Amino acid sequence: MNMVTPFKAVALGAALALGIGGAAGAKEFRLGLITPPPHIWTQAAEAFGADLAEATDGAHSVQVFPARQLGNEAQMLQQLQTGALDMAFLTIAEVSNRVPEFGALYAPYLANDIAHAGRILRDERTQGMLDPLPQEVGVVGLGFGMAGLRQIVSRGEIETAEDLAGLKLRITPFEPIRDFYNAVGAAPTPMPLPDVYDALANGQVDAIDMDAELIWILKYYEHADVVINSDHMMFPMVGLVSARVWSQLSEEERATIAELMARHIDGTIDSYIAKDEEWLAQVEGTGKPFMEVGPDFFGEAISEWEAIWGPKSGTLDMLREVAADTAE
Ligand code: BEZ
Repeated sequence: MNMVTPFKAVALGAALALGIGGAAGAKEFRLGLITPPPHIWTQAAEAFGADLAEATDGAHSVQVFPARQLGNEAQMLQQLQTGALDMAFLTIAEVSNRVPEFGALYAPYLANDIAHAGRILRDERTQGMLDPLPQEVGVVGLGFGMAGLRQIVSRGEIETAEDLAGLKLRITPFEPIRDFYNAVGAAPTPMPLPDVYDALANGQVDAIDMDAELIWILKYYEHADVVINSDHMMFPMVGLVSARVWSQLSEEERATIAELMARHIDGTIDSYIAKDEEWLAQVEGTGKPFMEVGPDFFGEAISEWEAIWGPKSGTLDMLREVAADTAE
């Protein structure tokens, strides 16, 4: 059922009052993601598009391109910079490769649990990290979402972090996570999401760094000897609009897009808070060996990571303060 929620009614009212919706400025925005169609991020993108169409009386719409149809995240970020792509929901991996300040969002054990991760990402000091993006990267950041906390799935038995030493361990291609697993002593192996299932199944990698949703839904655990519930890192997402495209929009269009996109990105945080622990419980319920570990498991690797990323990012102290203020 297509319900008009109070929020939609306000957005629709605002849009009509501001004159958005005339056919003259009609535009179909293209929004890219790397996640597959059933993924929470892709669903949020579709819902954002539906709300934008409703709020603008059909004048503006969003065509969603999931599953890397428009390229990988580096390519999509380039397209956003030139204006060839209008919008994207991206991991902050590629952004952190270009803006080291974002690397601190991957600080090991910044968040105590999934709800705490949500509070950190929603804090206005964290959201303020998006402000320099138009000047530094040529994109406008409209809010943070997330994909839960990171876990490890291993084909070989693991009892201590020393057992990870030398293992080819799949990572999302970005520097902060590479530095973490280098500090652990593993052999971090950058690999985009669509390649992970086969690589784990055929033994091309020994282990993977992954989130609970995909471990459960894509059944990565089936090819593992142990699932390590470590919750060692947040995995933020960011909603981006090309700064070039943004500059061509009216104030009213920007306000409507900003409000609706932020709403749906933020909604992904609620989804992971509601489901992350449930997915992990389901994995554990399969009887697959399942270990719960905390920061002690990783020993010195955490301080080694901080020694690199504290000076490099310049935002780690601020985020630690946010984490302390939002801890329960
Ligand atoms: C990954 O690279 O592990 C990943 C990317 C996007 C969403 C979830 C996971």
